[in-house]
Amino acid sequence: MESSRTFPILFLCIWSAAIATIINGETLGLSIEGSPFIGIGIGIGIGGGGGGGGDVNPPPSPLLCQPPEAPPPPPRRPKELGPSDFSDYKLYVAYRTIQRFKTTITSDPKGITNSWTGPDVCNKYQGFACDNPPYNKSALTLSTVDFNGFNLGADSIEMLVELEDLAFVHANSNRFRGTVPDSFSKLTLLYQLDFSNNLLSGGFPPVLTRMKGLEFLDLRFNDFSGSIPPGIFELLRLGVIFINNNRFEQSLPANLGHASAALLTFANNAFCGPIPSSFCELSETLREVLFLNNRFSGCLPYEVGKLKETLVFDVSKNMLSGELPESLGCMAKLELLNLADNYFGGSLPESVCVLGQLMNLTVSGNYLRSLGPACRQLARKGKLDDRLNCITGRPNQRPAADCAAFYSKPRPPCRYPSYLICSHRRLHEQLPPTIAITASTLHRGMVWN
Ligand SMILES: *[C@@H]1O[C@H](CO)[C@@H](O)[C@H](O)[C@H]1NC(C)=O
Ligand SMILES: *[C@@H]1O[C@H](CO)[C@@H](O)[C@H](O)[C@H]1NC(C)=O
Repeated sequence: MESSRTFPILFLCIWSAAIATIINGETLGLSIEGSPFIGIGIGIGIGGGGGGGGDVNPPPSPLLCQPPEAPPPPPRRPKELGPSDFSDYKLYVAYRTIQRFKTTITSDPKGITNSWTGPDVCNKYQGFACDNPPYNKSALTLSTVDFNGFNLGADSIEMLVELEDLAFVHANSNRFRGTVPDSFSKLTLLYQLDFSNNLLSGGFPPVLTRMKGLEFLDLRFNDFSGSIPPGIFELLRLGVIFINNNRFEQSLPANLGHASAALLTFANNAFCGPIPSSFCELSETLREVLFLNNRFSGCLPYEVGKLKETLVFDVSKNMLSGELPESLGCMAKLELLNLADNYFGGSLPESVCVLGQLMNLTVSGNYLRSLGPACRQLARKGKLDDRLNCITGRPNQRPAADCAAFYSKPRPPCRYPSYLICSHRRLHEQLPPTIAITASTLHRGMVWN
C-alpha cells in the first residue's frame, strides 16, 4: 500500500521536473541544442558520407543501397560491476562502499578518486590496500586505508565503517569533518587509527574506548575539545596516544598509568590540574612524555623517577611549581628534559645534571635560585639552558625585583619522600608486549603479519 502511493507521487515530481526543464530550455535555447539527440544526428551524417570527402551531392553508388549503419549507441554510464567481477565477495562490497564514499568527497585537489574505478580495488585504487583477514586466510579483503597527505575533503567519515575489515586507517592531512562516529565500533580488526591534521571536532570520540585492539591512535591537529575519558587508558594494547594540538581541557584522568603507552603526546591543549602521578606506572614502556604548553599546575609527581625508559620529558610552558624532585635523577635514559617556563623554585638537583645520556636540559623561565657544580659544568658544555631564573652569578637572569616578589609569596611545599626512587629494587620485572613504532609499521599491506 505504502509503495503504490509513493510511486505516482514520484512520477509527478519527475514529470514536473521535466516540464521545468523544457520551460528553461525554451528560454535558453542553447541547452536544447546540447541534447544528445543532436549528437546522434551528426553521427549519422558522417557515417552516410561513405568517404565522399567534401562533395555536396555525391553520385549514387551501390554502397548506398546497403542498409544504413545502425546509429552509435548513446553514451552509456560506466558498466555496473557485479559480484562476479571480483575475486572475493568482500571486495565487491568494498567496491560498492568506495563508490558511495566517492560521491561524498567534496574536494580532491590531487585527483586521487579518479583512480577509484573498476574492479581492481586492491591494486588500482589509490589509498586502499588488501590483505588476508585473520579469520580466513584464504579470503582477500580491504584492510588498509592510507590517505596520508591526499587533502581529500568530506563532511563525514562514517561511510568508512562499511569497510568492516579495516585494520589500518591512516588519513593524515586531509580535510575530513565531523566526528569519529560510534559506528566505528564495527571495525573490530582496527588497530591503527590516524586522523591527524584534519578538521574533526566534538568531544573525545567515546567509541575509541571500546576498540580493544587499538594500538596506535593519532588525533593530533584537529578541533576536538572536552575531557579525555578514562576508558582510553584501559586499552591495554594502546601504545601510542597522540592528541596534541586540539582544544582538550580539564584534568587528566587518574588512571593514566593503566595503559601501556610508549608515547604520550598531550602538548598544546588546555589540560589543567596536577599531572597525575599514576602515569609513572608506565615505567617499563614510556619513551616520550610531551605535556608542553598546557595549564598543568602543582608539583611534579615524585614518581617521575620510575620512568627509567623515558628519553624525552617535556613539561615546558605550564604552571607547574614547587621544588624539582631529586628523583628526576633516576630517569637514567633521559636525553632531553625540558622544564622551561613554569614556576619552579629552589635548586636544580645535581642528580639530574649527572645523568649520562642527557644532551639537553632546559630550565629557562623559572625561579630557580641555585645551581650546583655538576649543573654548572653542564652549562659550560652548552647542554643546560638556565636563562631567566634567579640564580646568582649566572648570566641572563630575571630582574632581582621579580625574584624577590616571587619568593615573598607563600608557596605550598611539595611533599616529596626523602628516599631516592631508583635505590629501591623493582619487584615485578614483567615486560608488556613490545610495541614497534617504526616507520615499517606504517607500511601499507601485510598489516596482520
Ligand atoms: C574463506 O574465504 C574463501 C574466499 O572468499 C571462501 O571461499 C571460504 O568459504 C571462506 N571460508 C570460510 C570458512 O568462511
Ligand atoms: C634543547 O631543546 C629545546 C626544546 O626542548 C630546543 O629549543 C633547543 O634548541 C635545544 N638545545 C640544543 C642545544 O639542542
